[in-house]
Amino acid sequence: WVRMVTAQTPTNIAVIKYWGKRDETLILPVNDSISVTLDPSHLCTTTTVAVSPTFDQDRMWLNGKEISLSGGRFQSCLREIRARACDVEDKEKGIKIVKKDWDKLHVHMASYNNFPTAAGLASSAAGFACLVFALAKLMNAKEDNGELSAIARQGSGSACRSLFGGFVKWNMGKVEDGSDSRAVQVVDDKHWDDLVIIIAVVSSRQKETSSTTGMRETVETSLLLQHRAKEVVPKRIIKMEEAIKNRDFASFAQLTCADSNQFHAVCLDTSPPIFYMNDTSHRIISCIEKWNCCEGTPQVAYTFDAGPNAVLIAQNRKTAAQLLQKLLFFFPPNSDTDLNSYVIGDKSI
Ligand code: DP6
Repeated sequence: WVRMVTAQTPTNIAVIKYWGKRDETLILPVNDSISVTLDPSHLCTTTTVAVSPTFDQDRMWLNGKEISLSGGRFQSCLREIRARACDVEDKEKGIKIVKKDWDKLHVHMASYNNFPTAAGLASSAAGFACLVFALAKLMNAKEDNGELSAIARQGSGSACRSLFGGFVKWNMGKVEDGSDSRAVQVVDDKHWDDLVIIIAVVSSRQKETSSTTGMRETVETSLLLQHRAKEVVPKRIIKMEEAIKNRDFASFAQLTCADSNQFHAVCLDTSPPIFYMNDTSHRIISCIEKWNCCEGTPQVAYTFDAGPNAVLIAQNRKTAAQLLQKLLFFFPPNSDTDLNSYVIGDKSI
């Protein structure tokens, strides 16, 4: 027999960034972060997990290619879910697994992204969230999404925020074992449903410095990070939660842009400096800043993760249409810039 479970999880984009760990093994961050979860029909991961007595080892395929499970992150997630596995009975298929059998049974896992993994569009966030969720269902683990988020976090920090829709906060937590470092929903996906997200894919090349390596170097060398984590982010988190709850776009946009810029400033403050944005990214920022300034109130927010792609959040469909028009005029895909496409991703909202 084979027992199979398939799950789908959207990616998330941080509006207050996670950058820097205080514990690399458990993946515990130096500050809280807040993100918005995209609509699953746009950027998401689909994962199928299977268990059968005929499987002789745990195996994983990513976009059709087998990958090594030797990295500690997959093992941590598997171990944590196995420890919470419960009895499973499927009379129709004649399947009966008791709790202690899970230690001997092996699983096969296959994951697909509906967007390029290399494009720096937070693929690990959706990937680990989906894997942990699917494994929990397969093994009948009873944990709620908050508890599962603390497990997904051990796969990739940003993954913990993808277990909820809407706007999500990752509380950094205080305790040493990391059990209180988990995600909570700030507002659900219906709360602010007129926002529209446009991603300008400036480059689909794999980033030169991975987030994991980049943030390690930042923690080791940047003084600005200490200031950001202790002084700036705690205040910003409070203001951001307020802006989201009140659907106050002007404050939301101001905080989102400022936090993205400070994250990239912290990267520049790292030794050697890390450059994630390129000239096209900088030109997109100038274009949005000018537009927001001319209108007297922010129309669009921008944020950049560990890569040059711009994530643009428009207040509503009308502004999104105007934004797209401007972008296509100033940054036509395949022009002399290295911009190659636009992805419109309504948030799950
Ligand atoms: C810039 O979650 O990919 O996207 O925990 O080492 O796997 P690891 O890093 P990852 O870092 C994401 C960094 C970011 C900001 C964010 O999503 O908050």
